[in-house]
Amino acid sequence: AAAAGPTAPGTAFTPVPTGTGDRVVVPEEYRHEVLIRWGDPVLPDAPPFDFDRQTAVAQARQFGVNNDYCALLPLRGRDRWLMVSNHEYATEPLMFGHWDPDRPTEEQVRTAWEAHGLSVVLLERAPGEGLPRVRTDARWNRRITLTTPCEVRGPAAGSRYLRTSADPGGVRVLGTMANCSGGKTPWGTVLSGEENVHVPFAHADAAPTAQQRAALRRYGFAPGPSLRKWERYDRRFDLGREPNEANRFGWIVEIDPYDPHSTPVKRTALGRFKHEAANVVVAPDGRVTAYMGDDERFEYLYKFVSDRRMRTGGSATDREYNQTLLDSGTLYAARFTGDGPAEEIDGSGRLPADGEFDGSGRWLPLAHNGHSFVDGMTAEEVYVFTRQAADRAGATAMDRPEDVEPHPYTGRVYAALTNNDYRGAAGAPAADEANPRAANRDGHVLELEEHGGDATAERFRWRLMLVCGDPAAPGTYYAGYDKSRVSALSCPDNIAFDRHGNLWLTTDNSGRLGNDGLYVVPTEGPERGRVKRFMTIPVGAEACGPVVEDDFVLLSVQHPGEVAGADAQHPASHWPDGGASRPRAAVVAVWRPDGGGIGMAGPSGA
Ligand code: FEO
Ligand code: CA
Ligand code: CA
Ligand code: CA
Repeated sequence: AAAAGPTAPGTAFTPVPTGTGDRVVVPEEYRHEVLIRWGDPVLPDAPPFDFDRQTAVAQARQFGVNNDYCALLPLRGRDRWLMVSNHEYATEPLMFGHWDPDRPTEEQVRTAWEAHGLSVVLLERAPGEGLPRVRTDARWNRRITLTTPCEVRGPAAGSRYLRTSADPGGVRVLGTMANCSGGKTPWGTVLSGEENVHVPFAHADAAPTAQQRAALRRYGFAPGPSLRKWERYDRRFDLGREPNEANRFGWIVEIDPYDPHSTPVKRTALGRFKHEAANVVVAPDGRVTAYMGDDERFEYLYKFVSDRRMRTGGSATDREYNQTLLDSGTLYAARFTGDGPAEEIDGSGRLPADGEFDGSGRWLPLAHNGHSFVDGMTAEEVYVFTRQAADRAGATAMDRPEDVEPHPYTGRVYAALTNNDYRGAAGAPAADEANPRAANRDGHVLELEEHGGDATAERFRWRLMLVCGDPAAPGTYYAGYDKSRVSALSCPDNIAFDRHGNLWLTTDNSGRLGNDGLYVVPTEGPERGRVKRFMTIPVGAEACGPVVEDDFVLLSVQHPGEVAGADAQHPASHWPDGGASRPRAAVVAVWRPDGGGIGMAGPSGA
């Protein structure tokens, strides 16, 4: 192995071993603690959590289930933040003591609706403390659920494809769901991605027209009764009766956590697909670009470029104005072209002769407000049926795009492509230079450089930074770094950056190469590609939404104990409460009792 140079700032810790068992593991000099769990109070009058007596009324005031994205927004003064969490989906067999999927009770279904959405809570750190704590008595605290009214704005607001019998205007949707990952905007709001919105809907085959049925199929809406039978308690989940209700989900939702009375807004200019997240950067001319992934096998990367420039004055008027930036602009999908000979990409992950998977790319315009760039589709159709628009435009089918996020200093954009076991299968797209492995079980990380460093550009260069998996296995690539000195990483999902510019990645690997965890890797300098495992989490849990502050880290531990065959009577995890308890998803904080910075060499964290 090459001699070790000085360790990159922010990465100076001894990596933890491959994750096993039902526990959180952090490096030696670090400690961890649960900040808030499913069922804990968000509002001061929330009833105490009771596994055996859950109600929709209680859940609407408690922390939701299966928290994914996590964001921290600073408040005036020191050591106070608003923490925003996404609650992606309900795992009823683990939530309820008695769950019969054929006969869910109305209370169980309504409880699940209230368990979805988002939570906003105040975090406060007392002087001399390492950790912030949740305050339930703060005026900002709120729950947003599947029954919270949301507004629809942008070019598809009021569209005929969004009108239902409950909302003939197509501008007001009851709730948000399948909230996966997200992003903070430079104007202090949070964007939340509605991802697997097809799951709770029933009877897609009974939608009245062939066009509706085809559009529903393209988004994975299934025939027959739904998994959770929500359609029995609200007709909007029955697509035979309300085919357009499907089109009212699958958007990016903007939340203003600083205003607890604000209405969440579905931003239709950012297109409709299985949104993982949206991350915004300000371009050199002041316009803003949002990068987005559609997380399904063979789906696409997208970006939105605003028409108008962000105002930087910071007044209430400026903030209000900035909250209209995502309503008009251009929506694009990405096409990737490899620069190597196609015959060198054989699906094995073997590097091409030029030593790197790389090439050029184009952002293909799909629509600009009322104008469509896609033959045979109106702009309105492009926004509501964005997948079909990108199909027609010739975007590149990717290996499940999860987070897509610009680096805060270099402007390069990083995309986690989590995996795609169907790549190269019969009838499916073959490996290409941007997705170079057949049956890609471990995923890869793509680095994209906009032409001229300008986020509004229509051309870019790209290269794969990581081709994940067991470093000893052929076809894995850790940016050319010595693979004998990296931690194994499989199925990258959420990404974040620390103040040093290091890339932090969480995994969603379903137990492949050990329990999921949080990793860090420098993107620049001699240690570029040196992946180090910072923490691992309990069995069956997915690591999400990392927040990396100077002296603490927040991580969402989503769906602990979610393994085949496990239910509330036979829990596969007892985390975090231990004993014979049933598992509860939670936000975990990690810090150093010696007061040192995260990944810094000494206690003073120089
Ligand atoms: Fe909800 Fe794409 O992960
Ligand atoms: Ca190449
Ligand atoms: Ca994800
Ligand atoms: Ca995932």
